[in-house]
Amino acid sequence: MPNCTINDVVCEFEDGQSILAVATANGIEIPYYCWHPGLSVVANCRICLAEVAAPNPRNDGKVETIPKLLPTCQTMAAEGQIVTTQSEKAVANQHSIMELLLINHPVDCPVCDQAGECGLQDYAYQYGNSASRFEEEKIKQPKKDVGPHVLLYSDRCIMCTRCVRFTEEVTGTHELLISGRGATESIDVFPGKPLDNPLSGNVVDLCPVGALLDKDFLFAQRVWYLKSTPSIDGLTASGDNILIEHNMDKVYRLKPRTNMDINRWWMTDEVRYGWHFVNDETRQLMPSLRNSEPFEQDAPDEAWDVAEAAALDGLQDAGHIAALISPMLSCEDAWHLGQLARAIDPRAVLAVGPVPVDGQDQTMLDGFVIRAEKAPNARGVRRVLESLGGTVLDAAGFHAALREDASIAGVLITGNYPSEWVTPDLIDAISGGRFTVLIDTLPNALKADAFLPGATWMEKAGTFENVEGRLQSFHSAVSPARWCKSEAQIATDLLARLRGETPHTFCDAATRQAMAEHGIVEMTRDVQHPPATDVQADSDMHLIVL
Ligand code: SF4
Ligand code: FES
Repeated sequence: MPNCTINDVVCEFEDGQSILAVATANGIEIPYYCWHPGLSVVANCRICLAEVAAPNPRNDGKVETIPKLLPTCQTMAAEGQIVTTQSEKAVANQHSIMELLLINHPVDCPVCDQAGECGLQDYAYQYGNSASRFEEEKIKQPKKDVGPHVLLYSDRCIMCTRCVRFTEEVTGTHELLISGRGATESIDVFPGKPLDNPLSGNVVDLCPVGALLDKDFLFAQRVWYLKSTPSIDGLTASGDNILIEHNMDKVYRLKPRTNMDINRWWMTDEVRYGWHFVNDETRQLMPSLRNSEPFEQDAPDEAWDVAEAAALDGLQDAGHIAALISPMLSCEDAWHLGQLARAIDPRAVLAVGPVPVDGQDQTMLDGFVIRAEKAPNARGVRRVLESLGGTVLDAAGFHAALREDASIAGVLITGNYPSEWVTPDLIDAISGGRFTVLIDTLPNALKADAFLPGATWMEKAGTFENVEGRLQSFHSAVSPARWCKSEAQIATDLLARLRGETPHTFCDAATRQAMAEHGIVEMTRDVQHPPATDVQADSDMHLIVL
């Protein structure tokens, strides 16, 4: 492989890689604003300029320094190149660019949502001058409401044009443009054409400063308090890699996590903003029994004990039962629920719950696909249930089986959808005095004999199989809401009760091992795991005692 030297480090590179890409791949910091690996190169911010020396073929290959600084984002790496961003000339350029970018910037970091993760703030410390020489009046630019999710604080913009290129090159929707000229130019939308494409929130991630802000996160939390837990999209079949950002057991926002095989750098708005049901005030937090007084909130253990006993007794008394396992659940949830159903009734009918589909898959200009299937694990749930033997029905088959077989006297239903999912058809199919146990998260139209509150995917660990058959595990980001439990834990507890064993805490890794030993070898062989730990931004602020 050819190699070059960047800031005294010898780096191998592939043909066609820019100096900046090579530096980034080798952990060498070169400051940049306008460059992004998923967008075209425009080289307009000029902070990445470096002094470059290279062999001159017209002078017997003698290494000569190129007189002008070169943009490392736009200059291809070449054999024998010697690049430095630490020379006097390169550092003087960095100082000048930072001074220029800050001339009209309001420097309102204390009230800016981006503080703590702002490229301008970070580079001002690392590459800027400590004082500004600018004494004239700053040009003030307005705040603009550019779309349903995004606000533009124009006077913080550094005109890197990443956001404009995103709508041109990734979504192809062209909502954003550069309006005006010179010092008064600004980002804008066309009149009556808001930034409302299905990936619009990505411009907030792309903006290196606090110019484009997320309405959903505005003034909600200082970013240095947030922990990031690597996770997987739990709302659609995409398997997109995400970060769940939370503080003190409360989720504040979702961000994309780069996976070049799946979602690259992006995520959809439907996932980015579709998770709020997790914190919904109507969330079902306590078990309940039909025709019984609500349980006392100060005795949740007793409530669970009574409700689980009633649920298990009712299903056992029914004799022949059917279980509808939601595609919103993890493979581990499905495994334990399937085991429970078959332990109660070896002939238990197993079915995958309704799989919501909205239109057709939509492929964006750069190949990112928005999946029509709005459930994260239909394939994984089916794979697990099929391993337990017998035919696994779909939701329509489940309804038909209940209508045709009056001997099915008990049903175990699971939901965990982000909105109402129970259909009149399901209610009709269950009717006829069947004992009904429902495990769900939000209220719905189904009247169960025993209700047990489940946990959303953010509140538990597990594995999803996406639409392409990729198995990916995820960690729990926050604890289950109040007294809720994961479906796997509920099933584990009910099984222990059924067998007269001491209940134990559900473990996703042990469950995958058990599934693999049962024959689903993919559960230990093919599952891709996220990084092991939460990430918390280190504060780079230092306390100075005066
Ligand atoms: S709004 Fe942000 S992303 Fe867009 S040009 Fe300005 S600084 Fe760049
Ligand atoms: S990153 Fe190279 S000019 Fe902007």
